[in-house]
Amino acid sequence: MCGIIGYLGTHGAVPVLLDGLRRLEYRGYDSAGLAVVDEDDIRVLRAAGKLSNLEEKAWQTPLSGTLGIGHTRWATHGAPTEENAHPQTDASGTVAVVHNGILENYSRLRHKLLEGGTPLGSDTDTELIAQLLGRETGSLGERVLRVLPRLDGQYAVVALSREEPDTLVAFRNGPPLVIGLGEDETLVASDVTALVARTRRVVFLQNGDVAVISRDGLRIVDPHGRPVEREVETLDWDPGRAEKGGYRHFMLKEIHEQPDAIRNTVLSYLNADRSGVALDGLGFEPERLAGVRRIHLVACGTSWHAALVGKFYLEELTRLPVEVDYASEYRYRAPLVGEDTLVIGITQSGETADTLAAMEEAGEAGALLGTICNVRGSSAWRTATARLLTQAGPEIGVASTKAFTTQLVALLLVALGLRANRGLSDHRDTEIVAALQRLPLAMEAVLEIDSGRYRTGVELITAADDSLFLGRGTLYPIALEGALKLKEISYLHAEGYPAGEMKHGPIALIQEGFPVIAVATAIPTRDKLLGNLMEVRSRGAALIAVAEEEAAEVSRLVDLVLPVPPVSPMLQPILAVVPLQLLAYHVAVELGLDVDQPRNLAKSVTVE
Ligand code: AGP
Repeated sequence: MCGIIGYLGTHGAVPVLLDGLRRLEYRGYDSAGLAVVDEDDIRVLRAAGKLSNLEEKAWQTPLSGTLGIGHTRWATHGAPTEENAHPQTDASGTVAVVHNGILENYSRLRHKLLEGGTPLGSDTDTELIAQLLGRETGSLGERVLRVLPRLDGQYAVVALSREEPDTLVAFRNGPPLVIGLGEDETLVASDVTALVARTRRVVFLQNGDVAVISRDGLRIVDPHGRPVEREVETLDWDPGRAEKGGYRHFMLKEIHEQPDAIRNTVLSYLNADRSGVALDGLGFEPERLAGVRRIHLVACGTSWHAALVGKFYLEELTRLPVEVDYASEYRYRAPLVGEDTLVIGITQSGETADTLAAMEEAGEAGALLGTICNVRGSSAWRTATARLLTQAGPEIGVASTKAFTTQLVALLLVALGLRANRGLSDHRDTEIVAALQRLPLAMEAVLEIDSGRYRTGVELITAADDSLFLGRGTLYPIALEGALKLKEISYLHAEGYPAGEMKHGPIALIQEGFPVIAVATAIPTRDKLLGNLMEVRSRGAALIAVAEEEAAEVSRLVDLVLPVPPVSPMLQPILAVVPLQLLAYHVAVELGLDVDQPRNLAKSVTVE
């Protein structure tokens, strides 16, 4: 999705804006721009394509001024051209705005402005906001309050005016905006990644907030102009972590951060003697939990794969029925939800539009609303009553890795906590908790395997246009996740399938050299999976398997084993995904693709 940065301070705005936009690149974009107030005039620079094109323009056109806004655009209304890039200004050049979101009354507004004789210079909905602001009078904050009622849809907007060179106004309904309070400077951005290098004191704006940022400070009002109070929070992320730390790509760094991320997540939620899980203080209200009879998990993409594994954990350990649904389906199917339902939105960013909408729908229906999320203060975090933070730290690579494995850990911890709350705990709990604390060591062993081991896998996969990932039980969602990782960063089609379903159609795909990747660690149904592998082997498939090194019954059947140490069946999904993450990574690098910012993708899909 689009990236927004605004700056008001004592430094030249242009370098600060460009640095902020660099840190937001991972969100995905196809054009970029910035505007500064320079000697009482608004100077705008925009460029289609990569951010380097804008940087080139900025070096060729030195701009001064300490107030500015910047934007990376992921096109919705209008092609990714310079004319449609942000910032957009009104006809008189008085106001400039940057925007993330979609105006649902775009056509009606556009028609009205054109009918009224306003010349439009772009195809964007964003320009309409600038034009409406430019037609108003008064301070920028007053203009915003008068325009707000005319905007339908999702928007996060930052505006400036050449008449007020010391003021930024930011307002949102849907996509996030966060304000950074620095030394003699204030920033506003789509997310904390753009701010953390300059300040860790932040204020998360809520839907409906209008923030007026001036050199005298920050004032936040509601849509009626009434002051509202928002908490100033201090981020526990240090700037260094958001850099690559010596790795070639953020994705590889984040794959390697998984042992620490898992360790931190586990230790954050164990009780004092580390024998079990302590959910108290996380909003899982015991009296509400006592009435819970079923659980719904809603999510998108990789987080939905985590939900599929979570179903196994929660049903096995709490004996409660669990439904898993795509958030984009759940929100429109009038789900049967009530006071007896615990609904958990699983989301790395905490800003995925469909997941937020599904959560809101469930909350309005009376469910106990929870979230497993990686960003404190995000919309999901604030919407939920019960909330558990995956301690993965900033995940910059668009392809989710450490967020996924910490989501699985979090789901297992929640299952153990609910199990204890329901009086079901027994020796298994301490065994699982002990295994969870050992898991990072097993994962470090996987990460130490020489990347050359993946060579055969890369060759087999890149020799074909398609591949099939197979798994059973708790490993079936890992097959889905492995397929998603491969297709989203290598652009090669891949499909994850329950191994038992292969004979009901997909086996028709199998021909000489067709790559089949099996998640074949030692769960009870592995023998069944091996039977499926023999069937595809006999039809000429090229076989890759994730399995224990000692599993001779697997290694004699396949072309390549990606080894993992033996761990308990409950933890195998968390470990088995790591070789698949690395396999996808090595294929994408082999193909010379943009691993961290794959084409067409955004890190957080904040509009539906
Ligand atoms: C994962 O690799 C993808 N980038 C994508 O499927 C992602 O998991 C999905 O968009 C959900 O995002 P969220 O976890 O931030 O809600």
